[in-house]
Amino acid sequence: MNEHLMNNYARLPIAFSHGEGVWITDQDGKTYLDALSGIGVCSLGHAHPAVTEAVCAQAGRLTHTSNLYGVPAQSDLADRLCRLSGMDRVFFSNSGAEANEAAIKIARLYGHAKGIELPVILVTENSFHGRTMATLSATGNRKIQAGFEPLVRGFARIPFGDIAAIEAAANNNRDIVGILVEPVQGEGGVRIPEPGYLREVRQICDRHGWLMMLDEVQTGIGRTGRWFAFQHDDILPDVMALAKALANGVPIGACLARGAAADVFRPGHHGTTFGGNPLACSAALATLKTIENEGLVTHAEEMGRYLLDALRAALSAHPRIKDIRGRGLMIGIELHDGDGTLPALGLGRGLLFSLQAGNVIRLLPPLILSRDEADEIVLRLTQVIEDLERSTASA
Ligand SMILES: Cc1ncc(COP(=O)(O)O)c(C=O)c1O
Repeated sequence: MNEHLMNNYARLPIAFSHGEGVWITDQDGKTYLDALSGIGVCSLGHAHPAVTEAVCAQAGRLTHTSNLYGVPAQSDLADRLCRLSGMDRVFFSNSGAEANEAAIKIARLYGHAKGIELPVILVTENSFHGRTMATLSATGNRKIQAGFEPLVRGFARIPFGDIAAIEAAANNNRDIVGILVEPVQGEGGVRIPEPGYLREVRQICDRHGWLMMLDEVQTGIGRTGRWFAFQHDDILPDVMALAKALANGVPIGACLARGAAADVFRPGHHGTTFGGNPLACSAALATLKTIENEGLVTHAEEMGRYLLDALRAALSAHPRIKDIRGRGLMIGIELHDGDGTLPALGLGRGLLFSLQAGNVIRLLPPLILSRDEADEIVLRLTQVIEDLERSTASA
């Protein structure tokens, strides 16, 4: 699109000018239903007045100081996140990858403190943890790693959702210090493990003294119908990474830790210039307060069930559709044969979504979604699937 931008994105030929709620308008004035929320970020929808007001007010006072000094909004945000999650302490970063970097560093220090010279973290196939060198090394997708060798060492890979594989790894490798896993794999195609998976992972971690580290960058902050996806299983992790929806679009990430893991970092171990600055933390506080005051976590669970049922009723019998699955408002529609033109067909019908793993339409609509808007998603997506039928029939 612009020769001065690096060529690392395959962008759709469209740009947006403004939005309100679940609706977003392009530069030509056409309006779309945003069922992707900027990849799971704008959970309150676009231009939410509470976030706008918090950002404007904070920007008028102070946008940035530094972590050399106390940051009151950062303390308030840490208190609130710990209350909501049951975790003990928070490190604030600027992105999901950086939140996972902090988790990886905690696990390594934790391992060294136990006398393990080369600590190993278990990670799963088909996972996504970010694009920094350590997080792409942890990621279970060769396409994301290819070309960037040498990868960071210290990761061992097992299939996602496979408890026996974790047990086998425990028997074979004495250097394992923890496991890093997504409660639901998002980028990998909305893959949901069997019920009880996280609970069993928790038990194995307890048995071996491993850190249970959850990447809730995509699943966290109400997306799956709980504040955090681990709350479906009634457990607590030792470490959790958050980002995406935490400040409704203002960049922020967070690594939360509990128990021994919360006391691993000492001054000098880790840091960031921007992470947890007053602007980002004020936006995050406004986001969390709004989600809490408006009961949006419960709403996400109810609306997720409604949308999933409606999608199944409309599309399950379609010969192109293989599976429709979801947890809260994180929904995947798997096709027998994927087609890269689907997001562009969506634009034609005024609907934003992404295509994952080549054949899974992923929906991450704002948590404020109404029933009428959910019905509109079903209607437009049905049209998109019909358009796909027509375009492949005529090809
Ligand atoms: C589960 C998960 N972890 C980490 C990341 C990386 O986050 P970021 O792009 O903010 O670095 C993502 C982004 O999609 C994600 O879905």
